[in-house]
Order: sequence, then C-alpha cells, then structure tokens
Amino acid sequence: METALRKLQRKSLKYKMVGMSFQNAPVLVTGGAGFIGANFVLDWFETVGTPLVNLDKLTYAGNPLTLESLKDNPNYTFIHGDICDADLLKRLFAEHRFRAVIHFAAESHVDRSILGPKVFFDTNIGGTHQLLNAAREFYETLTGDERSAFRFHHISTDEVYGTLEPNDPAFSETTQYAPNSPYAASKAASDHLVRAWHHTYGLPTTITNCSNNYGPYHFPEKLIPLILLNAMAGKPLPVYGDGLQVRDWLFVQDHCSAVRAVLERGKPGETYNVGGCNQRANIDVVKTICALLDELLPDSQNVPHSKLITHVQDRPGHDRRYAIDATKIETELNWKPAESFESGLRKTVEWYLANQAWVQGVTSGDYRKWIEQNYSAREVQK
Ligand code: NAD
Ligand code: DAU
Repeated sequence: METALRKLQRKSLKYKMVGMSFQNAPVLVTGGAGFIGANFVLDWFETVGTPLVNLDKLTYAGNPLTLESLKDNPNYTFIHGDICDADLLKRLFAEHRFRAVIHFAAESHVDRSILGPKVFFDTNIGGTHQLLNAAREFYETLTGDERSAFRFHHISTDEVYGTLEPNDPAFSETTQYAPNSPYAASKAASDHLVRAWHHTYGLPTTITNCSNNYGPYHFPEKLIPLILLNAMAGKPLPVYGDGLQVRDWLFVQDHCSAVRAVLERGKPGETYNVGGCNQRANIDVVKTICALLDELLPDSQNVPHSKLITHVQDRPGHDRRYAIDATKIETELNWKPAESFESGLRKTVEWYLANQAWVQGVTSGDYRKWIEQNYSAREVQK
C-alpha cells in the first residue's frame, strides 16, 4: 500500500511537472468532513476540481465515510488535525502554499452549546484566531498576483443577528449583531475576529452568514434528519414547545454554490447573507416530512407518520424566527438558489431512504449517548 509520505511526494512532483500556477494551488477547507463542508468538497470536485486539502479534527460530527469516493483522487488530501494547532497550521501553509482558505470547521449544534459551551469557544473563537494568524503570516510572504488572488473565506450563520418578531424585516448585512445562544455568541465573536484581521492587517477576508441548511449527509442531531430517522423507526418526533418557531431553509448545495460565488467574485472585507427565501414553521416542516414518508413508504406500519409528533419542553432561550434577505449576493454576485424547499426536501428524504449504510455508520455509540442526554430531560407537553 502507498504510504502517506509517498502519496505527498507523488503529488508535489505532479504539481511541479504541470508547472503549477497559483490559480491551481490548493485551497484549504477546514471542517470538510462535516455536513456542509463535505457537501462543499464533493461539489468542488464536481465543478472546480483543482487541488483541495481538507483539515478536519473528526469530532463526533466529522465523518470520513462521506468522502470515501475521493480516496483515489490525486487532487484530494485529507489531514486529520485541529484548527487550534498553530504548529500544524504553519506547516500546512508552508508546504501547500494555499491560494485560499474556506473555513467551515466549528462546533455547530445549539443544543450542545447550551449543555457544554466551552468547546464552542475553544474551536469557534480560538481555532478561528489560530487560522487567521497562520493565514496572515503566509499572506505577508506573498507578492504580485499571488497576493491579490489570496482569500480567506469564513462561513458563518444568521444566528449572529438574534431573533425576529413575526413582522420584522429579514436580516440584512447591516442588521446589528445580537447573538442569543452560546453557539451564536461564539460565531459572532469569530466573525468579529475575521473583520478585525481584514481591517487591521489587510487580510483579504470575506464572510457569508447563512440560514438553516438541509440535505444529504446531515448529522441526525439536527431537526430535519432527526425527524426523518425517528419517523422511519416509529419513534416519537420531538417538537420543541409549540413548534411555531420559524427557520429559513436552504438546500446545502445552494449554500456550496454561494460560497464558490463569493470565493470567485466576492469583494475582500465584505459580508454576504445567504438564504433560500423559504421561511417555514418547525411544525410544518415536520408535517411535510411525515407526508413525504407516507407517500414514499406507503406500506410502513408508521403511516400516518404524523401520529408520532410529540411536543416536548422548549430549548432554553429559543430564537423565535430567522429570515435572510439575500438581495446583496443575488444582485452583486449573481447567485440564486436552485432548489425550492419542496424539491430540496424531497431529494433529502429520498437520499436518506437510499443511504441506510451511511445512516447506520453515524447513529451508533456517541450518537446514542447524545440522544439520551438531550431528550431524556425534556418533559412531554400535552
Ligand atoms: P458540522 O458540525 O456538521 O461539521 C463541523 C466539522 O468541523 C466536523 O467535520 C468536525 O469534525 C470539524 N471540526 C470541529 N472542530 C474542529 C477543530 N477544532 N479542528 C478541525 N475540525 C473541526 O457543521 P456544519 O453544519 O457542516 O456547519 C459548518 C459551518 O457552517 C459551521 O461553521 C457552522 O457554524 C456554519 N453554518 C451551519 C449552518 C447549518 O444549518 N448547519 C448554517 C449556517 C452556517
Ligand atoms: O440558522 C443557521 C443555524 O441552523 C446554524 O448556524 C446551526 O449550525 C444549525 O445547527 C442550525 O441551528 P438551529 O438551532 O436552527 O437548527 P436545529 O436543527 O437544531 O433546530 C431547528 C429548529 O428545530 C429549531 O427551532 C429547534 C427545533 N428543534 C430542533 C431539534 C433538534 C425541535 O423542535 N426539535 C428537535 O429535536
């Protein structure tokens, strides 16, 4: 079997032989084994195809199985490591001379941040700080075209803006930050670091603040895959509180195309809000999933799946409504989502039905412990 060192030597030789220009230099993706990062990496090899290095710590949320199809792709390199590791980052920049960083790595689940916030601050704030430092140090060695091409793209969330009343206008790029959960606070802090590294050190950064994603490879601690898998298994479908909280849903591949648009055409120092214009109450999302399963699994003993809906104790500090105004990215960068919520959700349900091996791989061990911890404390509400 080829050793990791040999593989690296073969790759460096290949870059030298084709006289690699900076445009063909690798991009660094962090958190590329998680839900959105992995979709981005798979999409990258469908669309762009130039070298990509994926740095991921493989926490409970990272799953190398998702990227199994890339294992023989000479343009794909996986590094098992932590974005908080300054020495590792320094080495990776020196070795690969990245033309861009696309920073997905984070602790991403609000409920986990409520039960244990520290790791959110370590990774989301501390890790982003280390990555910005390493990128800045490398950027300062660049000159000419290499310097003007370099980008640091930070993936953030609409949760930094807080919560909306039913008739409030959607979040725009100038909405004041008002994060309400430890997760949202950690992401807001990381956005501020990125902004400061641009303003103070001139690092060419961009930020996207995106709404709720859904689609293939979504870890089933989050609403849509959790409801889907519980419904298929005939388990209760836990809806927090009255279920009238609103989220603005975006199919994950549309998020990937937005990130690529910003990477290619975005202006350094700018923030772009990304959303699907698909505001739905949680209870309606759950009912739509139940109806799709009734249609696709007509012989299941769980039909009608909606009989499994169970209202449980609410999330503390639960944001009532998110909505994104994506006018800026649509008009300035000519980006538009390709999927409606209906088409995207159908694709998602079909994907989970067809990919039971992936589901089985992620729903063992630690996952079971989390489900027990999060839901056993929630009283059922009549
Ligand atoms: P995820 O939890 O599915 O994946 C996170 C990935 O980061 C995992 O592969 C994990 O192993 C890796 N990771 C965690 N800590 C790390 C560390 N210290 N070093 C290296 N790797 C580490 O998250 P996701 O849902 O794919 O979200 C990705 C990004 O998008 C996050 O920054 C999140 O805040 C943001 N975001 C998510 C959504 C959403 O709906 N999921 C919406 C908007 C923005
Ligand atoms: O808005 C973007 C954010 O979307 C991202 O920044 C986060 O990383 C991502 O996790 C997501 O956060 P949410 O808290 O909105 O997603 P979650 O899937 O956890 O919950 C969606 C809604 O469903 C929310 O109102 C809480 C509710 N919910 C969630 C779970 C897990 C339930 O009613 N029952 C549940 O069991």
